[in-house]
Amino acid sequence: MNLEEIQALSVSHLISIADLCLEDVQKIYTVAEYLKANRATAPKGLADKRLAMMFEKESLRTRVTFDVGMQDLGGSAVYLDYQEVRLGARESIKDVSRNMSRWMHGIVARTYRHRTVQDLAKHSEIPVVNGLTDYLHPCQGLTDFFTLTEVLGSVKGRRFAYVGDGNNTCHSLIHAAALQGCHISVASPEGYEPNSRVVNQAMRMAQESGSEIRIMDNPREAVAGADCVYTDVWASMGQEDETEERAEIFSPYRVDAALMSKAANEAIFLHCLPAHRGAEVTSEVIDSPYSKVYQNAENRLHIQKAILYLLMRD
Ligand code: CP
Ligand code: NVA
Repeated sequence: MNLEEIQALSVSHLISIADLCLEDVQKIYTVAEYLKANRATAPKGLADKRLAMMFEKESLRTRVTFDVGMQDLGGSAVYLDYQEVRLGARESIKDVSRNMSRWMHGIVARTYRHRTVQDLAKHSEIPVVNGLTDYLHPCQGLTDFFTLTEVLGSVKGRRFAYVGDGNNTCHSLIHAAALQGCHISVASPEGYEPNSRVVNQAMRMAQESGSEIRIMDNPREAVAGADCVYTDVWASMGQEDETEERAEIFSPYRVDAALMSKAANEAIFLHCLPAHRGAEVTSEVIDSPYSKVYQNAENRLHIQKAILYLLMRD
């Protein structure tokens, strides 16, 4: 395959899956599939390109895979943590963005406020990729559905169940499902449902794709017949002081073998990681043969390389 022949994405930045069209997702998956199969021999499509990685929060997978991804593609990355940049505090987001545009070829940002990533993109002359905000985690959602496509062949018309907090990861999964015609059921405790803006956006996307989007509070109902069961931490980064309170509220939402038995026969389990064994998922489930969490973690690398390549190449 000649990567150069793949047309550009319809966007200049990757902030939300809701900004993408189905063809964009297909392009990302085609490039990721090729880069995965040809890791050692693929052309260095981003030779001499420089990526700034600005992280206000902790990370293992996102940080390592973007850095290694740049190296694989012949470029390099510079990591800046919160203390160094203090986006919007030491200097305005606009000025950070304008400076970066003079030195670098792309930015990945992991921030608390979603607005910070949007503002970086607004003032940037180089592509900005959302590496997670309190609202969305698009690189994760794209990867999860890539893994699902590898396992199932196609996600259209299949059933996806998300059990737990209606958080950033959940929001990007709802977008990904709605864009690709996958049915999604989300079970969350009252008061922890996904944001209604995301659900309404997804309902509009679903009119074209045929997805069914259901929000409920009963985990068994959400999981019934599902091809994939997904969960994430009960307290996200920035919510550490709510950990105890949430542990009690969310305990009926733990994904265990009994809950998995309600899913389809060949159902898989996914989690974005990091996971808390014994909290949102039992060891029995996450360490089972039907758990694809490490295949999914590997795919973060391939998907992000595809995103970087499609946004940053000449
Ligand atoms: N899933 C994920 O984004 O992992 P990190 O927080 O370790 O980057
Ligand atoms: N919802 C989690 C995802 C971590 C990858 C968080 O924001 O902490």
